[in-house]
Amino acid sequence: MIIAVDGPTASGKGTIAKALATHFGLPHLDTGLLYRAVGKQTVLNGGNPDDPLDAVRAVDFPDSLLDDPDLRSEASGALASRVSVHKGVRAALLERQRAFAAQPGGAVLDGRDIGTVIAPDADVKLFVTASVAARADRRHAESLSRGHAVTLDEIRADLAARDERDRNRAEAPLVEAADAILLDNSDLDAKASVAEAIRLVEEALAA
Ligand code: DC
Repeated sequence: MIIAVDGPTASGKGTIAKALATHFGLPHLDTGLLYRAVGKQTVLNGGNPDDPLDAVRAVDFPDSLLDDPDLRSEASGALASRVSVHKGVRAALLERQRAFAAQPGGAVLDGRDIGTVIAPDADVKLFVTASVAARADRRHAESLSRGHAVTLDEIRADLAARDERDRNRAEAPLVEAADAILLDNSDLDAKASVAEAIRLVEEALAA
């Protein structure tokens, strides 16, 4: 069973994907982390994230980089969004994601293009979203709790820039798959959002 969870930054898709994986006893892959690692490795190599050749050179990042807590920072998210526009980067990460999805028993993957490109035949596709205001508030609280001193205005500007880049890039843009189930959790807290996601997936599987 493959469950695809897509959505914009700070929509709560990661929390939902993790909870679905636990609920259904499936392995989970946060595909955004792969792009974050490529972004960070590009900078570590002294490269420019907007240069396709520099970014592609960084796809061979060591697996240990995936455990670097800095990958969760806003700065790493912005770098990931920049390297993720490059066709070569997406192509290099494609097989790794498809292999994860294809493991016996299935998997839950979250990202931007899981339901459209990585696993178009997924059994269930969720598109998780929330208003910009709700997402900015969440991301702000999360950043402060991690000790990152950022203002709400900075978060809003970063969200808007990332939404714009992720939705309008030529390669595998963030778009709701035609057969995805929409979950707008603007007015739900994390617990209610997870409960609703589980309900929607169970309903889809029973149909
Ligand atoms: O989900 P995230 O915030 O960790 O993702 C960081 C960036 O990586 C996001 O802004 C765009 C890119 N990304 C992507 O292009 N495709 C994916 N499947 C996952 C992430």
